[in-house]
Amino acid sequence: MAQTVKAHDLNFELFINEQTIQKTVADIGEKITQDYQNKKPLLLGILNGSFVFAADLMRTLEIDAEIEFVKLTSYEGLNSSGILREMIGLEESKIENRHLIIIEDIIDTGNTLARFLPELEKMNPASIALATFLLKPEALQHPLKISYLGIKIPNKFVIGYGLDYNGLGRGLRGIYQII
Ligand code: XMP
Ligand code: MG
Repeated sequence: MAQTVKAHDLNFELFINEQTIQKTVADIGEKITQDYQNKKPLLLGILNGSFVFAADLMRTLEIDAEIEFVKLTSYEGLNSSGILREMIGLEESKIENRHLIIIEDIIDTGNTLARFLPELEKMNPASIALATFLLKPEALQHPLKISYLGIKIPNKFVIGYGLDYNGLGRGLRGIYQII
C-alpha cells in the first residue's frame, strides 16, 4: 500500500491502513448484528462518500438488512435560512416504520446531519441510529448522538475509503491525511 499519494495539487500520507479499517468495520458490524436481531434495519447511506463503508459494513452483518442511498444537496434558496436541502432518492414510503441506520463516511461539523435528521424524522421511521466511520471531534458543532463510531481523527483533511478531494481519492484502500 502506497505510503504517500497525490490528488490534484495536494500530497497525502497513509494515516489508517486497510487492515485497521477492516477490523474497525467488523467491530461495528458485530455491534449492529447484536443490536438489531429480528429488526431488519434499513441502512441509509449518504452519497457520495459513504458508498465504500456502506458496502463493507453491510457484508459484515449477520442479520437481514436492506439498504438505500440518499444524495443531499444544498443551495442558496429563498427561504429564511437561505439554504434549501433536497433529498434525492428518498421517499416517505421507504422510511416509514423502518429501523434506520444512517451510514456516513465522516462527520465533520455535523451540519449535514443536523439539517437532515429533522427531515428524516418527519417521515416517521421506527427509529434512527447514526453510524459514521470517521469523526472529527474538534470540528463538531452539533450534539449528535452517534451510536456506531469507527475512528476519531484530528481536524485535518483526509481522503480514501470513499472520501475525496475534488473527486479524486475515493478508491484508495487506506485513509490518507493531508501533509
Ligand atoms: P459535516 O461538516 O456536514 O461534513 O459533518 C460532512 C461532509 O463533509 C465532507 N468532509 C470531508 N471529505 N475529507 C473529505 O474527503 C475530509 O476530511 C472531510 N471532512 C468533511 C464529507 O463529504 C462529509 O460527508
Ligand atoms: Mg459525505
